[in-house]
Amino acid sequence: MRKKQLFYLLFLAYTMSSYMANAQTKQKLESFLPGALWYDTDGQLINAHAGGIILVDKVYYWFGEKRGTHRSEGVNVYSSKDLYNWKSEGLAFSPSDDPAGDITHGCLMERPKVIYNKKTKKYVMWFHLELNGKGYAAARAAVAISDKVTGPYQFVNSFRPNGNMSRDMNLFVDDDGSAYHIYSSDENMDLRIVKLSDDYLTATKQDSFLFRRQREAPALFKNNGKYYLITSGCTGWAPNKASLHVAYAVQGPYVQVGDPMMGKNAEKTFGGQSTFVLPVAGKKNAFIFIADQWNPKDLKDSRYVFLPISIKNDEPGIGWLDEWKLDWFNKK
Ligand code: DGJ
Repeated sequence: MRKKQLFYLLFLAYTMSSYMANAQTKQKLESFLPGALWYDTDGQLINAHAGGIILVDKVYYWFGEKRGTHRSEGVNVYSSKDLYNWKSEGLAFSPSDDPAGDITHGCLMERPKVIYNKKTKKYVMWFHLELNGKGYAAARAAVAISDKVTGPYQFVNSFRPNGNMSRDMNLFVDDDGSAYHIYSSDENMDLRIVKLSDDYLTATKQDSFLFRRQREAPALFKNNGKYYLITSGCTGWAPNKASLHVAYAVQGPYVQVGDPMMGKNAEKTFGGQSTFVLPVAGKKNAFIFIADQWNPKDLKDSRYVFLPISIKNDEPGIGWLDEWKLDWFNKK
């Protein structure tokens, strides 16, 4: 074969394979594939770790940590109507260029969650903030607001709620519109829950100690009048056994009722760590458990696990599925 022909053939093969790879990453999804690579509608890997999802006018918005190999690069947001296909809406919240500020580049912004305040008509984001160069010593909660769900969110403040250390966290809005910040405190030994002010921008004094069991990654949901709290143990980025607590009042008391994970690899939460429980819009008793399968060598390459929660006799259970669709909730 002549040199020119060989070059032409190689060029053709390369173009075809990159076209096919691109077409694959841009394929419309019709199911969840827990733990698989997950591409957005532009064909880029979704970068939204330890996140949370809210529904606004029939559109879901997924907020999560934008990660580099290790760096914390702000909070990304994606939108979706079907929960399978996500469009990147860009960076909702960015670190600041002010070297003296709390959120200067190099700080850690973890576990971002967004809720909507009906009274102020503002979207309010809370996240776990660690100051640049201080490891995990600052242990603060941070707050940012926006008029638009996709941002850009403006930084409001960072603090320790009622002076308590605040690391892994989540937000929960109850049926009466009261919002709560659930947080790991006292070097992660304690789990606490504090009621937010009416504008959701600060913590009130209604701050309850829940239990002293060294738990992280709290994810709270409510069904049939009961509050269910899923947490992980504290083993850095490594997966561990989940735990479920139940209460009849949002601020407790909470009773430990075992591990909701079932089946193979349940004792390691299927290689993941809880981050959020999403109520599925338009369906009763339908919740999705969301977890992160962390890759500590390359945090942006950490994978997402979305699994349906089955609730039988008021007892939530979560089992692994390689692939599933939302109609799972109709068949259960
Ligand atoms: C576990 C926490 O849940 C994560 O959010 C993160 O802070 C890692 N620890 C850091 O090791």
